[in-house]
Amino acid sequence: MLGLPSYHSLLTYFRPSSMTMMTASLRNFLFLLLALPNPGAASPNLLPRQTITNAAPQICNNSPDLCSRTYTNITHLGAHNSAFVRDASTGNSIAGNQFYNATVALSAGVRLLQAQVHRLDDGTLELCHTLCSLMDAGPLDKWLEKIRYWMDQHPDDVVTLLLVNSDDASVEEFGAAFEKAGIAKYGFVPPSPSEGYAAWPTLAGMIAAGTRLVTYIASITASSQYPYLLPEFDYVFETPYNILSLDGFGCDLDRPSSAGTATNAISKGMLPLLNHFAYTSLTSDIQIPDASDVNTTNSPSTTTTGALGLHVNNCTGLWGVKPVYLLVDFYNRGPSIDTADRLNGIQPVGREKEPSGSSATALWTRFLSAQGLVVFSVFWGLVLSDI
Ligand SMILES: *[C@@H]1O[C@H](CO)[C@@H](O)[C@H](O)[C@H]1NC(C)=O
Ligand SMILES: *[C@@H]1O[C@H](CO)[C@@H](O)[C@H](O)[C@H]1NC(C)=O
Ligand SMILES: *[C@@H]1O[C@H](CO)[C@@H](O)[C@H](O)[C@H]1NC(C)=O
Ligand SMILES: *[C@@H]1O[C@H](CO)[C@@H](O)[C@H](O)[C@H]1NC(C)=O
Repeated sequence: MLGLPSYHSLLTYFRPSSMTMMTASLRNFLFLLLALPNPGAASPNLLPRQTITNAAPQICNNSPDLCSRTYTNITHLGAHNSAFVRDASTGNSIAGNQFYNATVALSAGVRLLQAQVHRLDDGTLELCHTLCSLMDAGPLDKWLEKIRYWMDQHPDDVVTLLLVNSDDASVEEFGAAFEKAGIAKYGFVPPSPSEGYAAWPTLAGMIAAGTRLVTYIASITASSQYPYLLPEFDYVFETPYNILSLDGFGCDLDRPSSAGTATNAISKGMLPLLNHFAYTSLTSDIQIPDASDVNTTNSPSTTTTGALGLHVNNCTGLWGVKPVYLLVDFYNRGPSIDTADRLNGIQPVGREKEPSGSSATALWTRFLSAQGLVVFSVFWGLVLSDI
């Protein structure tokens, strides 16, 4: 109550000198009384009710500013090989490209999840890194179920999947996995690329329609039975992905080569995906994800060779549009999301920090173990062809 007048002094101050004065003073007095902290109540609730119950602004993909933006006017940060994790659950597998799993990544702000899908002998679609004997992250439908659960819990978030169809599974097989996981209901069917970027809905529009999962598959034949399973290269073009040195990140179109140049692809309404992860040569024959340089690779710096910030500025300048997707390894380093936030011009809200515990130094030591060398000696050719 320090510095505030007592009720008694207020009464004295407003002592009426006439009937008119009294009415006015009484009103003022009551108003002041209401505005004073009530010594008898822990938390007086004296504001008009509608002020308190006003709905909070909608927050889409971690920002109220993104709700009214079209999906194509947003840069979505992607985790490359997001199902393949180097953490305790995989014994810090040398084949992992991320330190945190896909749903931890979503909570941290990642909005594109990329993974490789293989087919087991019994027909199960399985998330495997290059070969199921090298790294097997379980059935696709189980992983999709976790993403579906995350989306159930985060009703104002739009998520994108990019699945590599390594064993040429059919669209029906993928559709069955999406239905089994209960995630098909979120499947979004975009406008034709020829309608241009502006034809895509806003995030708020996708959220209101309940269709807030964009799913690309490379490669698949489109089917009217599963219209939300999109052949990636009908919609998206990519920059080169097999980058071996930090000065190698460019902006040329790599796939699909049929689209011609990046400028051509953009004019046809295809969405740019910037591949921004590097491999390193362990020996002349063995290449592994370049974890030792990842603090530089994922850096928001716009001047450092190899940094994500510089790469996006280079391509944005050359293309005249921002990349719609960024794809990185070890997404939490850099942190890579700073570059996406800068491109989106947002101050993010509602993200969750990753749990602590992962040690990069320990992991790097593990790569160099004899076992790691043997594994990569056997599979190096396949690792090279890995997206
Ligand atoms: C993209 O969003 C920004 C920020 O709201 C806006 O200024 C810009 O005009 C939009 N661009 C297009 C092509 O819609
Ligand atoms: C990621 O890890 C958390 C915590 O261990 C777990 O609850 C979640 O299901 C995992 N998500 C995926 C996609 O594996
Ligand atoms: C920018 O991209 C072009 C086109 O791919 C490439 O030739 C050039 O080296 C890049 N510049 C920088 C600074 O990365
Ligand atoms: C990268 O940065 C993290 C902290 O963000 C640090 O713990 C780690 O040692 C760094 N790694 C390298 C190789 O410099």
